Amino acid sequence: MREFDVEAVYAAELRTYAFPWSRGNFADSLQAGHSAWVGCLGQMVVAYAVMMMGFEEAELLNISVVPEMQRQGFGSELLDYLLDRARQFGAKRMLLEVRPGNPSGRGLYQRFEFCQIGRRRGYYPAASGREDALVMARTL
Ligand SMILES: CC(C)(COP(=O)(O)OP(=O)(O)OC[C@H]1O[C@@H](n2cnc3c(N)ncnc32)[C@H](O)[C@@H]1OP(=O)(O)O)[C@@H](O)C(=O)NCCC(=O)NCCS
Repeated sequence: MREFDVEAVYAAELRTYAFPWSRGNFADSLQAGHSAWVGCLGQMVVAYAVMMMGFEEAELLNISVVPEMQRQGFGSELLDYLLDRARQFGAKRMLLEVRPGNPSGRGLYQRFEFCQIGRRRGYYPAASGREDALVMARTL
């Protein structure tokens, strides 16, 4: 993902989440040097991801597949790729957060053998105020 992709990724984000990242969140991530990828079919953004590399740890900040392309294996393919990239960066562990009420995210992470290692109270905005985040990890 490069700066010129941000507008198209942001448009995809708006269609994918009830509480989307802002344009600025994507721009700031790129500015901060986070690793980010976008997958397209022709001109159409299908999937994207943002990952932050720390010392021996990779934190997955965003992984998304646009609604009409979900459940066709793109999320798994992308996560597989991210796990490989994280290993290449020297990471020993990948961390991420997910809403307890997000079946697609939890299903994907379960399939990739992530385990819950913690819970952040009131981490996400939600229709009814705030929602906790489950913190999940897997070794690489
Ligand atoms: C989570 C997401 C990236 C998965 O991508 P995807 O392309 O749909 O995933 P895949 O087709 O590779 O499916 C992988 C597994 O995820 C799980 N899964 C995906 N969608 C699911 C759903 N709606 N309900 C339950 N499990 C689901 C299943 O275990 C699935 O394996 P299966 O189809 O063999 O049962 C995608 O659904 C998405 O972008 N969702 C909205 C954004 C989001 O929640 N991102 C994660 C934030 S933490």
